[in-house]
Amino acid sequence: MKKIRVGLFFGGESPEHEISIRSAATVVNLLDLKKYQIFPIGITKQGKWKISKQLYLKSNDKAEQQLNQILKSGEAFTEWIKLRQKVDIAFPCLHGTYGEDGTIQGIFEFLHLPYVGCGVLSSSLGMDKSLQKRVFNQQGLPVLDSYTFENWMWNDFPQNIMQEIQKKIPYPIFVKPCRSGSSIGVSKAQTEKDLIKAIQTAFQYDIKIMAEKGIDKAREFEVSVMGNQLPEVSCVAETIPSNSFFDYEAKYLKPSDKKVPAEIPEEISKKIRLMAGMAYFALDCKGFARVDFLASSDLSEIYIGEINTIPGLTQTSLFLKLWEVEGKTPAETLEQLIELGIKLPRLKTHLKYE
Ligand SMILES: Nc1ncnc2c1ncn2[C@@H]1O[C@H](COP(=O)(O)OP(=O)(O)O)[C@@H](O)[C@H]1O
Ligand SMILES: [Mg+2]
Repeated sequence: MKKIRVGLFFGGESPEHEISIRSAATVVNLLDLKKYQIFPIGITKQGKWKISKQLYLKSNDKAEQQLNQILKSGEAFTEWIKLRQKVDIAFPCLHGTYGEDGTIQGIFEFLHLPYVGCGVLSSSLGMDKSLQKRVFNQQGLPVLDSYTFENWMWNDFPQNIMQEIQKKIPYPIFVKPCRSGSSIGVSKAQTEKDLIKAIQTAFQYDIKIMAEKGIDKAREFEVSVMGNQLPEVSCVAETIPSNSFFDYEAKYLKPSDKKVPAEIPEEISKKIRLMAGMAYFALDCKGFARVDFLASSDLSEIYIGEINTIPGLTQTSLFLKLWEVEGKTPAETLEQLIELGIKLPRLKTHLKYE
């Protein structure tokens, strides 16, 4: 059987560069090289594309080291137009801007190259916490009240904005960049002074930010969704952050406790899973995504927090863990993602890959 050539994109320009390398290393480790040929394409923090001289990986040993080496001393890859001749499918293992936000998906569409995961529009919506909220709201899915603004508004009308936020949203208030991830730039404000500081922090990462009603002692749930049509919805996981909320440290440095599956009543789990499937549909997601929820401590209120269209794929990441509980090994999950990407007729010209 002919091997499937996978163009594995990793690194990237976003602050989640390092996490992306770890996710891609997992993919390298798990894919069976008897069935797949991996063509790694590293994107440096400056946005340069790098490849290795030999193009395809010879082994999946020391994956992270091999990938780092490509980023450090690989050859420049500028002939994007020829990508279609070298790979059968692209796997953007990138998180955050210029990876998870529809930009690289646009290149794949343009090249008529099948790819893993969500398309241009769903990726862009998935990246923008404010715009996805409007779509969820339209679909009748519960989201937390929020107020979105850009830096030019803040520069000219800080008092009006402070008033608007405080009129609309009670404390605690969470402030976050609209297009970030890994909790970078997210903070919790309890007072007006905190709020100003939180706004300034969020503006370091995006020109558009959001103040959102905070849930005290929130419970956090995650669900993996996978498929093109009639998606599969996994069981529910719960994360119990090691800090007062699930900040960067609690995500990567001081690992938080995870319960897979979550210990919650069956009817709550059903409700969350249904909401996850509906959120996936609302944004027109294809391939895979992870939907995150925030709930009040008594579970009387459940909100869609956000959707991640390229969730973490490291060995400890929830996306793979959730499917493991459902009986799919991480390798099987990755193979299924590639298959879904190959089968999906993105545009009319892709129908031949069906
Ligand atoms: N409205 C909120 N109420 C309570 N906690 C929140 C709220 N918004 C964010 N958080 C906390 O901050 C974390 C990161 O926020 P999130 O919106 O998921 O951004 P990111 O895309 O960076 O993960 C969440 O996992 C949660 O712990
Ligand atoms: Mg999150």
